[in-house]
Amino acid sequence: MNFELAQCGIGDAADLGADLLVVLVHREFKARNDAVSRLIAGAIKAGDFEPKAGKALQMYRPAGVTASRLLVLGCEEGLARQTRSAIAGAASALKASGVRRVAVCWTGDAGPEQVQAAVAALAEASYVYTTTKSKAEGRLIDRVVLGVTDVAAARGALDHAVATVKGVELAKEWGNRPANHATPTMIARAASALAKLPRIRCEVLGPRQVAKLGMGAFMAVAQGSEEELRFIVLRYDGAPKDVAPTVLVGKGISFDTGGISIKPAPEMDEMKFDMCGAASVLGVFRALGELKPAINVVGLIPTCENMPDGRAVKPGDVVTSMSGQTIEILNTDAEGRLILCDALTYAERFAPRAVVDIATLTGACVIALGGVRSGMFASTDALAAELHAAGEASQDLCWRLPLDDEYAEGLKTNFADMANVAGRAGGAITAAKFLQKYTAKFPWAHLDIAGTAWKSGAAKGATGRPVPLLLAYLLAQPSGTAAPAAAGRKAAPAARRKAA
Ligand code: BES
Ligand code: MN
Ligand code: ZN
Repeated sequence: MNFELAQCGIGDAADLGADLLVVLVHREFKARNDAVSRLIAGAIKAGDFEPKAGKALQMYRPAGVTASRLLVLGCEEGLARQTRSAIAGAASALKASGVRRVAVCWTGDAGPEQVQAAVAALAEASYVYTTTKSKAEGRLIDRVVLGVTDVAAARGALDHAVATVKGVELAKEWGNRPANHATPTMIARAASALAKLPRIRCEVLGPRQVAKLGMGAFMAVAQGSEEELRFIVLRYDGAPKDVAPTVLVGKGISFDTGGISIKPAPEMDEMKFDMCGAASVLGVFRALGELKPAINVVGLIPTCENMPDGRAVKPGDVVTSMSGQTIEILNTDAEGRLILCDALTYAERFAPRAVVDIATLTGACVIALGGVRSGMFASTDALAAELHAAGEASQDLCWRLPLDDEYAEGLKTNFADMANVAGRAGGAITAAKFLQKYTAKFPWAHLDIAGTAWKSGAAKGATGRPVPLLLAYLLAQPSGTAAPAAAGRKAAPAARRKAA
């Protein structure tokens, strides 16, 4: 799908040749003497349309308009969020056969935020998953023209939005693939393919290397599966070497049966989405390769299946994580934190400016926040503020949850340094408290995307979240922030020594 900008308001919209012209009508709409305005004013006068949220009217071969279809949508004040939901509501018109070229314009001012919202919404509304269908009919729309008040001012926003779409769609693709088409090996291959993009490198570790690192918690989860685990290290080098990177850690459970603590059958298929954290890291790198910002980013993906088997880890087993801390695995279904804790320890060697992990971690987070906002935890207020702001700016929302030490009480056990589960109460928070035990050496945040990474029901599918949030967060970073003094860097050999 190709996006272009055009200097164009409602007055010139009639000349925008397209199969479908979408006009977002502000509440304050005042008709002028042009073809499109006259049509809208006529529809309002006849009571067939109101410039309000959720209102839409489609016309075929409208008089005086070059486009063969005209779709008018109410957008209230035309804010980014309103633009987005107006277009989202028109998905069926956008997916209609014969609509290949789309033009969009607003009856009032349209700037960078409107452009970003429209690009995201058009991509979302026209997305089609095809990989495992035998007669694949992909997206029909191939060209979109956005009419804006000031083309130069909107250019940067368009580039950001288009790169975000590419990242979101890569994350959706890998999220949506069934587990037999997205094994740890295949996910690692997808990561390696990203190294074709500028400034990106990828290294993939297998079981032997992971054992050598001492990632006992990660290995415990993988040991019940016939599929080999992979540990993926992606690097994006956009700034000089001495600039501390941000590390993203994505949970890559390619299928979560629960293991010996097996899950009930209903909806278990949705546990193919348990690698959406990993997919979001792939998506972010896809977009970084496009935008080439002057920052350094590391992506870490521990990926494996969680299966029940004769060799599977059993409730009560105690394992030693790469950090040296021992863990009693009381519930094999709390596996995400086990693969993430070793990846967090591995992150120390990069002396990061911050580490953000992204995980479909707890059903409790779905209960707490539903599908609207991702759960966000942060060890510093500054990092929490940056992530919150990035969520608002990209309309990929999150909400901070607490990390009081009292929440870690339930992780105490007589048989190891910690258990992998506490009681049912505050499950999203106790999971975060578990992870926090591996993050003493850097500012850290955790995004629990269990409720936001995919949709269930008729619209079942990956959302590509939180790629937009993560990109907005990374791009808002001051480029060229110097690395903290050598102290952090020295942690790397120490960690390796311990593991050996
Ligand atoms: N992948 C699941 C979390 C999940 C469950 C996400 C349902 C979305 C929908 C995770 O591995 C898990 O099973 N978590 C357990 C933790 C519990 C055993 C402490 C959960 O949330 O039930
Ligand atoms: Mn689980
Ligand atoms: Zn899981």
